[in-house]
Amino acid sequence: MKARYLFKLRKNIVLEGDLVLAKRELSALLGYEPDAVANVTSWLEQFPAFVTVKGLASVTSNIRNNGLQAYTVNSNIQLLPTLVKKLSFIQDIYCLIEESHESEFFVQEITEQIKPVINVYRFDGHILIHAVPLYALYEMAEVIVKKSSNPIEAKNNINLLVNALLGKTNEKKAITLAEAALRPKSSLSPLSHDIHYYKAKFFPRMARSLLNIASSNIDYQPQKVINNFVGSGTTLLEAALLGLPSLGIDIDPLSVMISKAKLDVLTVGSDVLTLELIKAEQLLAHNNQSALVNTCNSSHLDRPIRFPSWLMKNRKMTPEIAEELVHEINVLQQVIENGTPEIRPILKVFLSDAISRKVRMRILGTGSGRFSLSFSKYTLSSLFLKSLEKYTKLVAIYEWLEEKLNISLAPSEVVLGDARCISDKLDSFNILLTSPPYLPSSSGRESYTKARVLSLIGLGMIEDNQIDELIDLSIGSMDDNGVNLDNLLPEEKEVVEWLLNDELRNIKAKPTARYFLDLRKVFQEMIKVLNPGALAIIVVSKQSTFYEFVTRKPLYTIPVAEILAEEARSAGFTVLELLDVKLQKSNRNARPRSLDDYYETLIFLQKKIN
Ligand SMILES: C[S@@+](CC[C@H](N)C(=O)[O-])C[C@H]1O[C@@H](n2cnc3c(N)ncnc32)[C@H](O)[C@@H]1O
Repeated sequence: MKARYLFKLRKNIVLEGDLVLAKRELSALLGYEPDAVANVTSWLEQFPAFVTVKGLASVTSNIRNNGLQAYTVNSNIQLLPTLVKKLSFIQDIYCLIEESHESEFFVQEITEQIKPVINVYRFDGHILIHAVPLYALYEMAEVIVKKSSNPIEAKNNINLLVNALLGKTNEKKAITLAEAALRPKSSLSPLSHDIHYYKAKFFPRMARSLLNIASSNIDYQPQKVINNFVGSGTTLLEAALLGLPSLGIDIDPLSVMISKAKLDVLTVGSDVLTLELIKAEQLLAHNNQSALVNTCNSSHLDRPIRFPSWLMKNRKMTPEIAEELVHEINVLQQVIENGTPEIRPILKVFLSDAISRKVRMRILGTGSGRFSLSFSKYTLSSLFLKSLEKYTKLVAIYEWLEEKLNISLAPSEVVLGDARCISDKLDSFNILLTSPPYLPSSSGRESYTKARVLSLIGLGMIEDNQIDELIDLSIGSMDDNGVNLDNLLPEEKEVVEWLLNDELRNIKAKPTARYFLDLRKVFQEMIKVLNPGALAIIVVSKQSTFYEFVTRKPLYTIPVAEILAEEARSAGFTVLELLDVKLQKSNRNARPRSLDDYYETLIFLQKKIN
């Protein structure tokens, strides 16, 4: 049965690229392209019935004020529950049908599935359903966390928020909460995506919409997702939320741990986390007291932690600061050991996150291995407790949504491994979504592994003498490993020759060659693990430009996306499309600092059917 839909876009969409993805996602889920609505107020003249919804819930409230405001379409009413559960960029869905026996039946069916997030209006022979998509609620949950002092209050507040958004209450507290949650800058790293500071991670909405687009284009069941450079696990969490089973691979043990924790934390129970919080607070308070009573510093009892010599040579990393860090890490390790065994990996991720927020390392992209350090004024313990406390509330909100909407996370697995050589046991995936490390020559990025060294060593995941090996093993490192330039494609050769002839940049020539050849192996491995007809989406920077140091005049541009698409083609993929999406340079998670507008390219690939 057909209904007239209006999809109001989230007000916090600022990127052109997000608008492109929003439209593609809608088209994929609806089966055809919706019409753009530039101005909802004018659109209402054509569809006056939609005026029925008033106040905060009305179609004109909280509308984007520059650029496109909504999409509209005539489509099946039965699609509504799926749209509510899947859409990534929509604030409200309004859906109008004629009143009849048939429509009443559908409304009842829909109500059974998604009652807590809809409001149904009946008037003049019409039925109008207003729904708030789940993802908008995930994004808004962060504000609820901030405004709640404990998990019980968080559950009450999410209930109030939903009712206010749907116009079911006029209670002042509910309206104030909703207004705060609707402010454009509210979370872009919803739920547990921010469990660990992580540079160069996917924008979750992008990952989610790409998964929706890919899975709508594939007939296979079940649809299994793989990310062979899983990083912080954005893809896995979004896949799990969408009900798609997934697997992640990463060469870095810390990334593997973060990815696992990102999913596990949502299902450990807010009550269990609350208990851990109380235990941790008690232990830390006790520790502080005994340190006060004990006149000599307790640090002589600490497990020794050896940071690499290149880190200790930095003038800001004084022996006193290093000693203090080691002591704080040791204290928090005790807290972790005192924790429930199943929760310990999550607590370790909180500690690692605290370390990366306490000590900020910025790699200077000159190829010399230089970096700068800065320190947060907060102690590791306070950063750790803050995370733990935040998650008691966030998990409570997720539990509320899970229970009310009868949703659950699809299974997900993360393994330590090398994307250049994937185990034969892993196969039969239908969707691959990934983002490989950046070209070693792009500015501002050399080694993310290097920036994670304090966590890796602090948590005892790796010894100081193993760190260089891990850095070199990572794709995009400055190690050239005896690369053979004869194996390069002509366009790759041209890049490497330009770098070889540039006095300041020839240090990056062979690592760049190795990067191209490594990714060749990666594409060959990808094709092995995919089913025929499977889709792969590779997110890369469109290009990398070198500038004259003084004048900032562009000297040479590497067409990264085109080169990698060529490698994918040589590996046997069909290249379906190269889609450029513009990103905000200022975003703190955005990748290489750039002088130009920054574009990422989504390379859409398909494994041939036969
Ligand atoms: C750009 S990050 C991916 C970020 C991810 N999309 C996210 O949302 O968090 C690239 C990842 O590739 C990993 N990596 C580097 N070399 C690798 C290799 N040979 N095999 C597997 N993973 C590798 C790095 O450790 C890093 O986590």
